[in-house]
Amino acid sequence: MLSTVTCITAFLALFGIVYSAPASTNHFAGAMGLAGYNIVPIQWELPAKADDPNGKKVTVNGTIQEAIAQMDAGYPGWHRTFEAQLHTDTNNSAPILAAAAEEPESYDCDIDGDAASQYRIGQGITYLRGLSGTAKNGPGPGNCGRVSCAYNAAIYWCNENGFEKEVQWGQIADGGEFVYHNCSTQDWQGVGKAKGQVNYKDKWNVVVRSESC
Ligand SMILES: *[C@@H]1O[C@H](CO)[C@@H](O)[C@H](O)[C@H]1NC(C)=O
Ligand SMILES: *[C@@H]1O[C@H](CO)[C@@H](O)[C@H](O)[C@H]1NC(C)=O
Ligand SMILES: *[C@@H]1O[C@H](CO)[C@@H](O)[C@H](O)[C@H]1NC(C)=O
Repeated sequence: MLSTVTCITAFLALFGIVYSAPASTNHFAGAMGLAGYNIVPIQWELPAKADDPNGKKVTVNGTIQEAIAQMDAGYPGWHRTFEAQLHTDTNNSAPILAAAAEEPESYDCDIDGDAASQYRIGQGITYLRGLSGTAKNGPGPGNCGRVSCAYNAAIYWCNENGFEKEVQWGQIADGGEFVYHNCSTQDWQGVGKAKGQVNYKDKWNVVVRSESC
């Protein structure tokens, strides 16, 4: 699992185009328990042949974890081909994005829903950090894409602007990390948990919380 996700992130870093579909395509109003929010699917455009970035592209939907599973199901060996390529291409691996130093405007640790495992959120953040591209999200307000969800730990990013918004994956990772650090609690067993929403001046935000994946 870990190596699978590591590979998809690196792969996307090289070839991926990632965006959220327009809000009109799929509405799950209120699915997050946040009034007025729509959850839109994230679409990933990945080459059918992992070693041919300019070849035919395939669109898969879902979280980063689901995207690679779909590619591997539709194109057996896709993952392995990609992995082999990675080894010859290690020096081209995505640079870790410098945080674009966007200061949060506000944050709220008291959002609806349960807190997620800090450990699992941390894993999601690590994957997002490995992506070098940008994420697009259709016009809001309250247009949210679930970019990562594994082991019931979800990370969303939401566009509150009335126009399409593009941010760097590193910025979404930063938002997740902000919540991870600043909205943490411990359950009765002493296990670290976190949930919250952090809002940026450019009218977008990152939401972390527990969710079934
Ligand atoms: C992905 O989502 C888009 C928009 O909702 C839809 O048109 C498309 O059929 C979906 N593709 C897959 C592979 O699920
Ligand atoms: C990676 O590239 C840098 C600069 O282009 C070079 O100095 C370095 O030796 C390379 N590393 C490997 C492992 O090839
Ligand atoms: C936690 O919040 C403080 C104060 O708002 C902020 O300076 C810090 O960067 C946050 N931590 C992370 C990891 O984002």
